[in-house]
Amino acid sequence: MVISRKRRLKNSDSVKSFSKLPNHVAIIMDGNGRWAQTRGLPRAAGHRAGVESLRVIVETCCELKIPFLTVYAFSTENWRRPEEEVSILMRLIVEYLRREVDMLDENGIRINPIGKLDVLPEEPRKELYAAAERTENNKQLMLNVALNYGGRMEIVQAAQRLATDVSEEIIKVDDINEDLFASYLYTKGVPDPDLLIRPSGELRISNFLLWQLAYAEFWVTDTYWPDFRKKEFHQALEDFQNRERRFGGIKN
Ligand code: FPP
Repeated sequence: MVISRKRRLKNSDSVKSFSKLPNHVAIIMDGNGRWAQTRGLPRAAGHRAGVESLRVIVETCCELKIPFLTVYAFSTENWRRPEEEVSILMRLIVEYLRREVDMLDENGIRINPIGKLDVLPEEPRKELYAAAERTENNKQLMLNVALNYGGRMEIVQAAQRLATDVSEEIIKVDDINEDLFASYLYTKGVPDPDLLIRPSGELRISNFLLWQLAYAEFWVTDTYWPDFRKKEFHQALEDFQNRERRFGGIKN
């Protein structure tokens, strides 16, 4: 039997240093369609190029030791797209996991899908659950992949489960506080994002992590997601290190 050499993330450039880094970065991977359109390509080509951007950003998080990354891959509203595009996106998720899971696992990356996953088509659902199970003890980077995700739906589901637990006397109404509520969200145990990145020039939150982004710093760029690579990520991080975060307080 040939034992293959441990696959490592490409680590070509020297690692840039920052005075302060976010613990958790969230990204709305937007602009795939427009990227393709400007090149006269089908939208699928934009999504495919977007997967490569994701690969690069995961690698960069590992290099910089950023421990949490959450990406918006498919929203509860994305089902409104033509069936063909939805099925291409599902296929890309399956392909990504099949192709990358060994490398992700070997580099200590945990895949944690978040969203209403039970209604996803069988193939991506199975692939996601298998990748999540296989990588669940990894500690280098937690990659939260938001799929069939909607921030409002997440909050409603949390409220429903809380109400059930109150009615079953598992918790008391007086026990409900922000920390307890947060533990009913998909992101239980995950610290809130410090930095939200939105490529493609849109200035919207698009139903993404509505609860968790309460104090996140926003960084937007006109660059479409498929062109968002290490250079653009470094720009966002450089900007972040100069932000003064007051969390509602005043400067000391
Ligand atoms: C938004 O661009 C992007 C999406 C709805 C899908 C994002 C998915 C990927 C990058 C690939 C699959 C994900 C994984 C985890 C492998 P858009 O299509 O809305 O772009 P537009 O606004 O320019 O039309």
